[in-house]
Amino acid sequence: MSDNLHQLRCCGCGARIAGPDALPNFRCAECGDLFEVEYPGWTLRQGTNRPNPGALKWLWRERRCSSEALDQSGVWRFRELLPILENYGNAISLREGNTPLYTLPRAARRLGIDQLFAKHQGMNPTGSFKDTGMTAALSVAKERGFEWVACASTGNTSAAMAAYAARAGLRSLVLIPEGKIAWGKLSQAMDYGAVTCQLKTDFDGCVKVLAEIVRHEPIYLLNSVNPYRLEGQKTPAFEIAEALEWTVPDHLIVPGGNLANSSALGKGFRELRELGLVARMPRISVIQAEGANPLVRSFASSHGSELVPVEAHTRASAIRIGNPASWRKAVRVIQDTDGWCLDVTETEIAIAKAELGAEGLGCEPASAVTLAGLKKLRSDGKVASGETVVLVLTGHTLKDADYTIDFHRGTLLKEEEIAGHETEVEALQRNAFAVDASPAAVLATMRGHAG
Ligand code: F0G
Repeated sequence: MSDNLHQLRCCGCGARIAGPDALPNFRCAECGDLFEVEYPGWTLRQGTNRPNPGALKWLWRERRCSSEALDQSGVWRFRELLPILENYGNAISLREGNTPLYTLPRAARRLGIDQLFAKHQGMNPTGSFKDTGMTAALSVAKERGFEWVACASTGNTSAAMAAYAARAGLRSLVLIPEGKIAWGKLSQAMDYGAVTCQLKTDFDGCVKVLAEIVRHEPIYLLNSVNPYRLEGQKTPAFEIAEALEWTVPDHLIVPGGNLANSSALGKGFRELRELGLVARMPRISVIQAEGANPLVRSFASSHGSELVPVEAHTRASAIRIGNPASWRKAVRVIQDTDGWCLDVTETEIAIAKAELGAEGLGCEPASAVTLAGLKKLRSDGKVASGETVVLVLTGHTLKDADYTIDFHRGTLLKEEEIAGHETEVEALQRNAFAVDASPAAVLATMRGHAG
């Protein structure tokens, strides 16, 4: 018997197609919009395929003690909610997911919030949330017999894709904007054996080139327009709900780049609610960098009905994206959950990242927009002190060590960016000292910074 129960539904015109019938660019042949995976059996209340909430909660917890590879994955542990493969045995896993939900006691105290958590998706095998999506979509590629997979990337997708492709024995092609991705991420694509092409353009330019290539070549596209990516990326919603004893947070705050992850997490919570596993949805808010904020502009100018691409500039290179593919999906999730969309400055991102670091939770700059955004939401009165908030930290701090070192050395931010934030920035900066190789000199340095 096949494990596969899915079909694809166009988010624009509602057209439904079988999974293998999707075009290579995953756009609807009727209206050009993107697809999402749906499971028709679940919607019929009496349907035999409708999962039973109590049994599922028990089963997923039991699997945490299992030694089976599939059960040890924080994605495939929830496989009843992502029946996208003909056979679960075809899943390519690196034991992704099962990431920690940390408390943030100092930030919570400063912000006057009782319950503040960070879901650290940087604690995945390749150091970003992309692994949860890649295990799902790459398994589909492998099962359908593709030999090559490809993506355009600001770095993390390519690292994840290259690793999972290597694991599956597939070849991978990476298109990245030259000089615009962090070294940590580039090094991963190389190490995992991808054919890496640095193009003289930005991320949006790489997407265009790749769209042309997959039209003519039998190469499986693994950008987040691929709806199977989102099936994996919805599973942190299950982990969060499980960790909170099947309650949901009041707020979920997510960075916005190509704008797929916010909708994936929204889909995860929506399915939990539809299946009776949780009672409601969190408000989902998306935070962009000020210099790469097409969605913020779209809400300001047209309530999210149109998006005008921008030329993107931010040091948070993961979200340096001006023409996000999944913006309509993000609009829908923000509107459906009564969330917000806002942007934060380069200085606010740098400060928030150092504050997270000072709590022992490093992350990459793009992830820190969540804390910077929460500060704004809190000061605007949009988050109440008694509410539960979860920040989604998307990438590991070692992805972009240059950014961190530059911040602490005082070479990251320009004078005009620091103006007005001098005290805050100085209090967070921790440069390394050149010290004589003697105990006395080391102790003197230590005592000089004991405050
Ligand atoms: N955070 C990190 C660390 C990312 O790498 C990305 C996207 C995002 C946030 C934004 O997520 O695109 O779903 O809104 N990185 C992509 C890449 C685009 O190629 O690695 P999104």
